[in-house]
Amino acid sequence: MYLLRVILFVVVVLSAFSYIALQIPQEVSMPPKPEKFDPQKVQTKSDVVEIGQKIFFGKGQCALCHTIGTDGGRCPNLERVGMRLNREFIYETVTQPQAYVKLDFDQVEPKKFPAQMPVINKPPIGLNEQELLAVISFVQSLGGKVTIEPSEFLAPGASPAQAGAGQEEPVQKQGA
Ligand code: HEC
Repeated sequence: MYLLRVILFVVVVLSAFSYIALQIPQEVSMPPKPEKFDPQKVQTKSDVVEIGQKIFFGKGQCALCHTIGTDGGRCPNLERVGMRLNREFIYETVTQPQAYVKLDFDQVEPKKFPAQMPVINKPPIGLNEQELLAVISFVQSLGGKVTIEPSEFLAPGASPAQAGAGQEEPVQKQGA
């Protein structure tokens, strides 16, 4: 009788665990889905910025590391970064982060940030050219002038994200 109760107990516990395990969604590694938007509704630069903002806080995972306004410590605060960096620099920073490394000047001796800026157009983040344009326009909007036109955003093949029609000379990136 005692043995039977033990067996019953084990069976109940095991089925409870397998039930819980089945409820956990499985991680399937699929290529990242492109950000959805309605092309009809992309009329102005701020429409592009808005899509970029969604990517910044979503698919781009930027907000996992970066703050806008408060100094978090592990990664640069991006408040007013658009004032300092132009389009080419932003493009390079996010696609070849090893080329320019921003130092943490809040330290007694400027130091590297403890985290590392990922290459955002390669997996796992894997933003496509259009998403890159949108996220760059959002970064520009942080204290700077947005230079990405809705027409470029809608036909990204024609204008790679780093090309800059009517761009000024690249400005020296501080802390590079
Ligand atoms: C894993 C953390 C992490 C993620 C995710 C991340 N970054 Fe960064 N980012 C950093 C670090 C660390 C630096 C500073 C070192 C450097 O410049 O390489 C940096 C630097 C930058 C800079 C230059 C800042 C300056 O003041 O010069 C920009 C712009 C930037 N990131 C944008 C982005 C965008 C846009 C995304 C999302 C698509 C993103 N980052 C995602 C960690 C991250």
